[in-house]
This record gives sequence, C-alpha cells and structure tokens, in this order.
Amino acid sequence: MNKYEQHEYDVLVVGAGGAGLRAAIEASALGAKTALVCKSLLGKAHTVMAEGGVAAALATTDARDNWQVHFRDTMRGGNMLNQWRMAQLHAQEAPARVRELQEWGAVFDRTKGGDILQRNFGGHTYPRLAHVGDRTGLEMIRTLQDRGVHQGIDVFMECTIRAILKDGDHVAGGFGYWRESGRFVLFQAQAVVLATGGIGRCWEINSNSWEYTADGHAMALWAGADLIDMEFVQFHPTGMVWPPSVRGTLITEGVRGEGGVLKNNRGERFMFRYVPEMFRGEYAETEDESDRWVASVVAGQQAEVRRPPELLKRDVIARAIRREVNEGRGSPHGGVFLDIANKRSPEEIVRKLPGMYHQFKELADVDITKEPMEVGPTCHYMMGGVRVHPETQESTVPGLFAAGEVAGGMHGANRLGGNSLSDLLVFGKRAGEFAARHAQERSSRSRINPDEVETLARHSLAPFDSSQGGENPYAIHEELRTMMQRRVGIVRSAEDLQFALEELDRLRARAARVKVGGNIQYNPGWHLALDLWNMIDISEAVTRAALTRQESRGAHTREEYPDSDKDWGKRNLIIRKTGETLTVAEEPVPEMPEELKKLL
Ligand code: FUM
Repeated sequence: MNKYEQHEYDVLVVGAGGAGLRAAIEASALGAKTALVCKSLLGKAHTVMAEGGVAAALATTDARDNWQVHFRDTMRGGNMLNQWRMAQLHAQEAPARVRELQEWGAVFDRTKGGDILQRNFGGHTYPRLAHVGDRTGLEMIRTLQDRGVHQGIDVFMECTIRAILKDGDHVAGGFGYWRESGRFVLFQAQAVVLATGGIGRCWEINSNSWEYTADGHAMALWAGADLIDMEFVQFHPTGMVWPPSVRGTLITEGVRGEGGVLKNNRGERFMFRYVPEMFRGEYAETEDESDRWVASVVAGQQAEVRRPPELLKRDVIARAIRREVNEGRGSPHGGVFLDIANKRSPEEIVRKLPGMYHQFKELADVDITKEPMEVGPTCHYMMGGVRVHPETQESTVPGLFAAGEVAGGMHGANRLGGNSLSDLLVFGKRAGEFAARHAQERSSRSRINPDEVETLARHSLAPFDSSQGGENPYAIHEELRTMMQRRVGIVRSAEDLQFALEELDRLRARAARVKVGGNIQYNPGWHLALDLWNMIDISEAVTRAALTRQESRGAHTREEYPDSDKDWGKRNLIIRKTGETLTVAEEPVPEMPEELKKLL
C-alpha cells in the first residue's frame, strides 16, 4: 500500500460539474474535510456546455408561476414515471438555489424591472428558465467554482476515479489515476458523492463532452448500487448536422424559446401535425396564432396566447424530426431546418443567442440572422442513473451518494430542458449535506482493503500486457458508438436490442484483449481502454432495460409497442449486478400523496 499516493477525507466528491461543486461547497460548509476530484481542469466540466437556462418557478416573468405548476410540468414531462418526492423537492427548492447563486455572483439576464429574466422552454407552462444569454452553464460553473475555491475545498484536477473502494458493505473511498503521470492514487473517505454526469459518449452522435464515459454509473453498479430508469436516454431534437466534424453539437432549445420554428424541405411547419393527444388544445394550431405568441413574447405579454408546437417535449420533437427525415422531407444533410431569422431581428438574435450566432458563423459558415440552421437529434442526457433516496441522495450502498445526471429517478421517462441545471443545484446541495452528516456521524472509520487495491491496479495495467492480444481501444469504441446509435437509438425494436446485447458481449470479449502501446504517462489510448469497461457495461444496462419495457413512454420508443401502457406506467425498472450478470427487476412507482395527485 505504501507505494501508492494516499489521501484521507471525510467526503470525496467525484466530478466538478455543477452537482459536484455544489455538493462539495455544502459538505465543506458543514465542516467536513472535502476533496473534489475531476478528470478535466476545474471549470471545464460538461455543465459549461449547458446553454438555455436553469428552470425555477421564480415567477419574475410570469406571475402565475409557482412550484406546484413546475412540479406538474416535470411529472407530465417525465410521463409520470418520476420519483414524485424528488420532483416535488426540486420544484420547491429550485428558486432558492437560483437566488443563492445570484447572491454568490452569478449575473443573470434581467427583466426591465431589474429582476432575473426567464425564458420559455419546451414543456414548461410559463417562462421559467433563468439564463445568461445562451451560456448559462458557464456562468453557473464560474460562480460555483469561485465560491468553492474561496471556501477552501481541496481540488484534484486531471485525476480519474476508476472504482469505489469498500470496507464490507460500506464505502471506503476511491481508487484512481493521475491522467498525466498515470500513477495510481487512493482517497480514503467516509462518504463518496458521485457527480460524474452522463453516458452520451456511448453513442455516435451526441452533445456530450469527452468526460461523459459512464464512469459514475459503472462505478456505482460495480459497487453494488441499484440503477433505475436506464432505458430512458434523451435525444435532444436540435444538434448540428453539418459539417460532419461538429455533428451532434447542441443547438439550444432557447432558439425555439425565442421564437425559432422547425420546417421540412417543403417549407412546412411540420410540428403542427405531431401534437400528442395528451397535449391537444394546449398548443397553437396555426402559424398566425404562433406568430402572435412570438409577438407577445417580444412585448412581454404572453399570458393569454398558446405556445407554438416547437415547444412540445423533446422526445416528441425528436421523433417528429426523425420521421420527417425518414419519409424524405429532410434537409440536404439529413436533418430539418430551424429558422429564427424570420421571427426576430438580427440585433435580438445576436443579443439573446450570442453563442448560437458565433457557433454557426465559425463552425458552419451560416449566419443565423439571415439563414436557417440544419438540425437533427443528438444524444444529450441520461434520465436513468443511480437509484437514490429522494431526500438524502444516498444510494443503496451505505455511504455512497449521487447527484446530478448520474443519479436517476428525478426526471422519469423524459427530462424537461432547464431541469438539469436546477436538479444539480438542488440535489448537489442535498448530497453534500447528507454525505457530510453521514461522514461525521459514523462511529467507526472505513479502512481501505489492500487486496482490493492490488486487484484494481493489476486490472488497470492489463492493457499493457502484450500476451493479451492486440485489440485497439479506438476501434472498439468506434464500433460501440456506431452500434448503439443504430440499435439502441430513438426508436428501438426487440430484434435490434437483442442484436445489441450479443454485440456487447463480443465487444466485451475484445475489450479484454486490448493492447496499448507506450507507458502509463499521459496515454489517452490506455485511458480509453479503461473507459471501455464502463461504457460496455452501462450500454448493456440501457439495452436490457429497453428490451424489458414493452411499451413506448417518453424517451423510450418501441417499434412493436407504439403506445404507452397503463400497467408499465406503474413500474420502474431496476438494474443490479449479480455476480457477473446484470439483472432487471420491476418495482412499483411510489404512490403519490393525494394532495400532489390533485395538482396533476
Ligand atoms: O437546449 C438547451 O439549452 C439544453 C438545456 C438542457 O438540456 O437543460
């Protein structure tokens, strides 16, 4: 053990995006000795890529908003599969978390009266997204980072945690490696908060940063934690489709929130044809009505006008775009058109959506104040994740907590835009608080088991062993991404999912024979070889859950079962690792109290 660098903390937070930073701030404010470990440099987490805003019923832009309406929208957005208590806490606490961020220095866009300005987003009844142009995540991370650093949190950058260490049933810390030197490092801790984000790098077309390789999901699974709702993977309707080098890059829903419309290659506003039964009557039915809505938004008087169908939920719009393209009505590069140039003045576009303006100008040579954008679905967000207690965020493994995208349950079958930034603030704070308390209240200290460390070290170095074979990690990753895109995408079939499971077995066997060159010092091929284990196991969890759920609901669409089913709507799927196999169990969705049912 002495050959390894070791650190001892009360709380180890893995991941320095919004959830990790917020958790670390809370834990350290409560007096817990807290370490924050991140794969990247501090300030470069995926949260900075969140654009359109943070959802909270502040009611600054429409006085009718309140937590009850936010709760209702979130539950309807998630097709009622959400853990209701998480959705309730989220709706109730998000306003305080956003105000707190403002007190810590975040500079949100302003109403004429000087309060926080809120914009419209899909599925939200009222303008609810506090924003900073279209760079909201960046401002949030900047603020949280300043706060955390000044509070004295110890930050370990460019360090990957690979496994949760255990002492019996309880967590004992984390095993990781420095990305630059390749040397192993041990963090002994009484509580660990996973805040590692999502899994989007398992798909070919995605909006996620390089860090989203399913680390936290996999570490929790391997440590014995339950995963929930793994079949629900969100495809954001609007990613860039051209040029190929930037395919998948996010185009914020804020474009549609500010009046942007979707058209096919015949110039039709096709979304009018795709309003689901559940939402009939709630959305504008003609272009005129929709234009009146844009005019009312500009004038700040949208109270009485129905929203355009481009502000339906993401799963609905992604499926509609897919269908338009499949039926031959797509744009030249396999998407559809998103046009704001005809709805807002060039000055407004540049002021409200500066990031989008520059993104298209610099990456695609398109001036969005004059021309439409070409857009198509991109894998964006994982609704499923570590099953946590709704109040404490503790997983089914004592001492292991999770917050943000790596945690499941809050969003059910589909997340509303803007609810992830509020989720990570609300539940990041809660995870930090309860992890600190847990660490401080433990009567006996967890100890690291040297045998476990040796096994992990040996396993991690295996890709350098030339006797293993000669598989290339990049080739395996490429095949995984392509296969998941084709077989476990927006619309799934039993045949494709079955094929995917067989293919994952083959990829796993090949991953065991990976060979990397060079040595442990900054070696991205080796890092990827290790990440493959996470990605393959979590791809399997998604695929198994998707095969089990025989209905279509939210982000999960089954070709053979195009409708939602009442009985399936009462069940969550839980994934567990038993020995070497992943099992899927069905569990009843928790019963909601009567007073909340009335809100729906
Ligand atoms: O479209 C967007 O700006 C994305 C926001 C989100 O996923 O919450």
